[in-house]
Amino acid sequence: ALIGKGNHRHFMEKEIFEQPAVLGDTLRSFADPATHRITLPELPFDFQAVSRVAAVACGTASYACLVGKYWLESLAGLPVDWDIASEFRYRASPLVPGQVGLFVSQSGETADTLAAMRHLRGEGCPALAVVNVPESTLAREADATLRTLAGPEIGVASTKAFTTQLATLACLAVGAARARGRLDPEREAALTKALDELPARILQVLEKDQEIRAIAAELMAARDVLYVGRGTSYAIALEGALKLKEISYIHAEAYAAGELKHGPIALIDEHVPVIVVAPRDHLFEKTASNLQEVVARGGKVVLLSDAAGVAELGDYAWKTVTLPEVDPFVAPILYAVPVQLLAYHTAVLKGTDVDQPRNLAKSVTVE
Ligand code: G6P
Repeated sequence: ALIGKGNHRHFMEKEIFEQPAVLGDTLRSFADPATHRITLPELPFDFQAVSRVAAVACGTASYACLVGKYWLESLAGLPVDWDIASEFRYRASPLVPGQVGLFVSQSGETADTLAAMRHLRGEGCPALAVVNVPESTLAREADATLRTLAGPEIGVASTKAFTTQLATLACLAVGAARARGRLDPEREAALTKALDELPARILQVLEKDQEIRAIAAELMAARDVLYVGRGTSYAIALEGALKLKEISYIHAEAYAAGELKHGPIALIDEHVPVIVVAPRDHLFEKTASNLQEVVARGGKVVLLSDAAGVAELGDYAWKTVTLPEVDPFVAPILYAVPVQLLAYHTAVLKGTDVDQPRNLAKSVTVE
């Protein structure tokens, strides 16, 4: 069937606004209808016997993997090596007994990701794929597949595929943690509730569309933009910077907030906006002191946080976006949306070809 833009100006906008629905679909696909618990399909390995996960992907999918690493490590106590597929495939990373491979891809056709999976499988390592296109090569060749139910994604810059990848990896982490005896029933209930409520919370973020557009109107004049965060917010900073550079052609870079002092702080002046991704989690106070270091050097901070975070730090910021308060575990899924909107509006205001940015392809099937 022909896919239209509906009432939207671009596919990217349509796909951003589809996120509450497709996240709901994806999350429900992992819920046991009887118990309402998050349940994984049959996997070709037992999580109790897994010693290490190699998480491998390209582009936006690699940032989903990075969030997955933090989740699998903290929730399931599972060591995860995070890799870019083009590096992994040519690196002599020694296989350890009990290792599994995790490959994440919207298209399931990305040449480097496929090559990395084939390499690992050739060594006898089972491969789990998280894929949006079920008939893709990656889905067919993997030992098991978890499907993201994002539906067709047309915009070259990935949006709903990313958040459904995150939702799927969150369910994977919950399933792995339970299988490894690391999830007490109260924590499991809290996580299930946080995931259930996510589509409604994302709808609230989408209501901030015009507020975020007003910030984009200021951002469009920048030559360079920095994104910072800690923990899973570091991965969202990376994704935010990628989105902005891909579609607005503004140079954007992301740093782990604690790493600012080791270089990028030298770039800070009143011309470099710094987007600070800072939900109130266990790292908030650490990020807060990095934010103050930026402000002390004349930097202009755009703070993304919840009401309590904005109350504490808003006075230092140039602009703030107040987001709904959620369990820190699901925060990266929620905070992905404002960075998408910020990039989208900046690009539209600059007049670039948002759905077909120059030099980029939706699916990179060559090396
Ligand atoms: C291209 C696209 C990106 C995407 C990446 C990985 O670079 O422009 O949006 O994140 O490929 O694609 P995949 O289909 O493997 O997720």
